[in-house]
Amino acid sequence: MVNRLWSLTEYPFQPERQLYYETIFCLGNGYLGNRASFEEGYAGDTPATLVHGLYNHAEGAQVAELANIPHWVGVEFTVDGTPFRMDFSKKDLLKPPNGVALGYQRTLDMKHGLLKREALFRAESGGTVRVTFERFASMDNVHLMVQRVTITAIDGAPTVHLRAGLNANVSNEGRRHWQDVQPHATPEQMTLTATTNQSGYRLGMASALLTNSPVQAQFDDLTATHETHIQLGKDETVTLLKLTAITTSRDTDDPLALAQSILSAYRQQSYDQLFAAHAAQWDRLWLTTDVQIEGDEEAQVALRFCAYHILIAAPRHTDDVSIGAKTLSGFGYKGHVFWDTELFVLPPLTLTHPEIARNLLMYRYHRLAGARRKAQENGYEGAMFPWESTDTGEETTPKWSDPQPDGTRIRIWTGDNEQHISTDIAYAVLQYWRWTGDDAFLIDYGAEIVLDTAVFWGSRVEARSGRYELTNQIGPDEYHENIPNSVFVNRMAQWHLQQALNLLGWLKQHAPHKHASLSDQLKLTSERLAKWQDIIERMYIPFDEEKQIHVQFDGFFDLEYIPVLKYEPRVGGIWPMLGHERALQSQVIKQADVVMLMALLGDEVGPREVLLNNFNTYYPRTDHGSSLSPAIHAWVAARLGLDEIAYHMFQHAAWIDLKDNKGNVRDGIHAAACGGLWQSVVFGFCGLHLTPEGDLAVDPRLPAHWKQVSFSVYYRGERRHFTVEQPALVAP
Ligand code: BGC
Repeated sequence: MVNRLWSLTEYPFQPERQLYYETIFCLGNGYLGNRASFEEGYAGDTPATLVHGLYNHAEGAQVAELANIPHWVGVEFTVDGTPFRMDFSKKDLLKPPNGVALGYQRTLDMKHGLLKREALFRAESGGTVRVTFERFASMDNVHLMVQRVTITAIDGAPTVHLRAGLNANVSNEGRRHWQDVQPHATPEQMTLTATTNQSGYRLGMASALLTNSPVQAQFDDLTATHETHIQLGKDETVTLLKLTAITTSRDTDDPLALAQSILSAYRQQSYDQLFAAHAAQWDRLWLTTDVQIEGDEEAQVALRFCAYHILIAAPRHTDDVSIGAKTLSGFGYKGHVFWDTELFVLPPLTLTHPEIARNLLMYRYHRLAGARRKAQENGYEGAMFPWESTDTGEETTPKWSDPQPDGTRIRIWTGDNEQHISTDIAYAVLQYWRWTGDDAFLIDYGAEIVLDTAVFWGSRVEARSGRYELTNQIGPDEYHENIPNSVFVNRMAQWHLQQALNLLGWLKQHAPHKHASLSDQLKLTSERLAKWQDIIERMYIPFDEEKQIHVQFDGFFDLEYIPVLKYEPRVGGIWPMLGHERALQSQVIKQADVVMLMALLGDEVGPREVLLNNFNTYYPRTDHGSSLSPAIHAWVAARLGLDEIAYHMFQHAAWIDLKDNKGNVRDGIHAAACGGLWQSVVFGFCGLHLTPEGDLAVDPRLPAHWKQVSFSVYYRGERRHFTVEQPALVAP
């Protein structure tokens, strides 16, 4: 029996929410993500499997995206000739051969990444079966997908005819990514190879239906199939396994050979053996991931849900991919990687699974060449990371939006001007280093990232009127584009340059060779370093002395004031209500911006009074049109002792996907909201921080009804467990 604090259940069947459930119940293992579409299909479904790093630029598309790989999930069957389906309408029922689903329940076991669906199905003949589908993406061998189908005769002794296959007739919402598709099938196995039609990645799949009854094999241009006939006796149960191995040329030179060898190795094992190995890996992952909350079961489930989705997207097998804004759970944002990874998803991984965090940082290191090209193309020095990133390291932000309701397209400026991404990456590198003490990583890789992005800022700043400015920027608040002097951007760039100088000092002492080679390679001359120092001293930080607040950017308070809090209750931001142009001309803020700065730099932003003034100014102007916003507000509000707002924002963040309060879960999980939720609890409510003496401490500010929170983090290679109680603290 699956524990209700570890699982999510759909009961009864909710046909209108299929796309929601496809995302929410997504499976994965850090190698791929698999939407929870039905094995037999459903009208209007969006079955998809996305493999990390497998990008392709389809003909006619603006940008590259993760290619939906051939469908391996398919299992269809008939009962006495009646196809098993969940999507017959009442009208269809009058037309034979149609059956009826009499009962249904689907559960995602988040503890062990298992999706289980049970249905009671009556065929036109009256023959009735109970069918159970189980499916998991093995955490033990990430190339292995396991499905078990159990069919029991409940009424009568029906004949079951079952087909399972591989099918390359797939697309991303119509965009086709595959060529040279070659299916093949023998009774022993089905295979399929294909190549992405622009990037040239090769895919190999090997699959088999494992059953005691004889299997017939078929294949055509796009599909490979195994079929079998089963005559069920009264009350008899039959169990079938379908195993599928998936590899690509990103893993090996011969993907098909590897897929076939994996299939033949694992087909000897029973389902229980396969599941036990998979579950053991999950248990290991949860050991440090799980945050336990006593006194709030809903919050508990929401936190586990978020952690589950981070874990199934987190690559353990390679350091050459990163996590997209929608994980691997949907087509939203085309699988592109944003700052969401470094500032939202990475911190929980840095603290709980540093080896995975390192992989994600190395993804950026491997793409420094692309960042350098971008800087050069824009007339700057150093490394300027793309706002949206894929496998190539090139800027992949589309220039134009999809058509709006009135048919027009909006110019997207983020790829040009949302430049803070370079500092966000540097921040993540340094955060990783501080928490892990992984000097080798810093010396070999991290320092180069931090320093070459600092070189970029040194060349990017504009000297004007005796100070340094940054115009034509986009801060976190994307409603305000191409603005002058975003306080977030200016202050973070200043912070970044200071960190770069500190880092150089550290390198000189601890790794003089690296200090010398990087100084040479990145041309860190004494003039350049003197300029950095000058920028640090004379960077313009917009601040209203009279009101004692930071000004989000020059001219912000001249814009139309719109009381955002009046537009409640709503789903999503108020941008669609105002329209693009009016939103741009108003003080409505899309997401934590000055508040984000306060989350990242804490007290370094200013005294408590200023932090409170900032929060009280910007919170009522923020519409949380981005899912990145509420958790950051919860975190900062908790630190400021604004308990009610903190919990309100925590709940908002917790329900983004589970209650679909942005209205777009069908496009994929909001990865940043998931990572943000963890931070709101650990950094916000529990107040975990590094002390100046170099140790860990908590400073709890728990919501009133939370009795206790327990969590583990790694600090400098050592696992530390905390139990934070209300109101007093029990030391670790
Ligand atoms: C947010 C960005 C975010 C992107 C991807 C946008 O709506 O404003 O901050 O990086 O979504 O999640």
